[in-house]
Amino acid sequence: MLWLTGLSGAGKSTLSRVLQAALATERPVEILDGDEVRTYLSAGLGFSKEDRDTNVRRIGFVARLLARNGAAAVTAAISPYAETRNEVRSLAERDGVPFVEVFVSAPVAALAARDVKGLYRKALAGELTRFTGVSDPYEPPERPDVVVRTDVETIDESVETILEHLRARGLLRPGDARTAEERAS
Ligand code: ADX
Repeated sequence: MLWLTGLSGAGKSTLSRVLQAALATERPVEILDGDEVRTYLSAGLGFSKEDRDTNVRRIGFVARLLARNGAAAVTAAISPYAETRNEVRSLAERDGVPFVEVFVSAPVAALAARDVKGLYRKALAGELTRFTGVSDPYEPPERPDVVVRTDVETIDESVETILEHLRARGLLRPGDARTAEERAS
């Protein structure tokens, strides 16, 4: 289970799609994306701590079902609370599912400047409350397995860092993943 955590707009969804393309040669890969999960599995949940934790636990539950049946699960939710992420990790590891926490790191200032969805502007103007990184907490992982700096790296660089970690952990055989060139062709 590849768990991407980071602020809105940091690039979790984009990275998850490229990782899916890179990894799908060897096994089925499913993505659990916060925005998508919230339209189906977590419809009706808001952004209180309780609702975010429920959302994250549901994502962890489905990811675990997938992973223990041989599919790779890549999750892309802000998942702002360290304790809840650690809980998901424990449940995964109890099932023998390796949990790889990837901190998708970018400063709020850079994300607010880019503001693809226009949400930072609204949050900074006070039109959107409880917005992660602006008016709601984000607890960065203390000991992430991998850190990628999406404000200064290209997507391919970040993906390669993650794949390298998977190889080093023995979760990917050398040559198992598609290279950037192969993905592009
Ligand atoms: S999580 O906190 O429960 O893990 P999740 O990743 O599912 O969050 O959803 C985050 C997405 O919801 C953001 O990318 C953004 O598009 C949208 N969103 C709407 N309101 C908020 C908010 N108050 N805080 C964060 N994201 C929000």
